[in-house]
Amino acid sequence: MTAQRTILITGATDGLGRRTAERLASSGVLLLVHGRNAVRGNALVAAVEAAGGSAIFYQADFASLHAVRRMAEAIAGAHAHIDVVINNAGIAVESGG
Ligand SMILES: NC(=O)c1ccc[n+]([C@@H]2O[C@H](COP(=O)([O-])OP(=O)(O)OC[C@H]3O[C@@H](n4cnc5c(N)ncnc54)[C@H](OP(=O)(O)O)[C@@H]3O)[C@@H](O)[C@H]2O)c1
Repeated sequence: MTAQRTILITGATDGLGRRTAERLASSGVLLLVHGRNAVRGNALVAAVEAAGGSAIFYQADFASLHAVRRMAEAIAGAHAHIDVVINNAGIAVESGG
């Protein structure tokens, strides 16, 4: 039997990250979905589960390195392996001029 794949998506509560999580929801993977906002994170988990998938929400504001480390430790402590990391969290900043 093949082990379930685990995919971590940062910035999964909006935009491209959320669409990616929704597209992967019915693919049989375990999604670790990250965001800053617990209400949106829990809503995403509910949407993934409604589509027949599995997801766990991790909350962290990446403006804080302490929060980054705390999330990394929580994930490393809870999951034996991660197969794919989609580093999506961030904002697009237009350069002036
Ligand atoms: N859309 C484009 O055309 C485009 C083009 C080039 C590159 N990108 C890059 O692709 C990525 C996604 O873009 P998007 O348009 O889908 O963005 P988006 O809709 O604004 O979503 C960004 C995601 O990142 C999270 N996030 C933002 N700042 C964070 C922080 N300090 N700590 C933790 N999470 C944070 C947001 O969380 P909240 O829900 O809490 O806000 C949200 O889940 C970004 O890295 C962006 O720079 C986008």
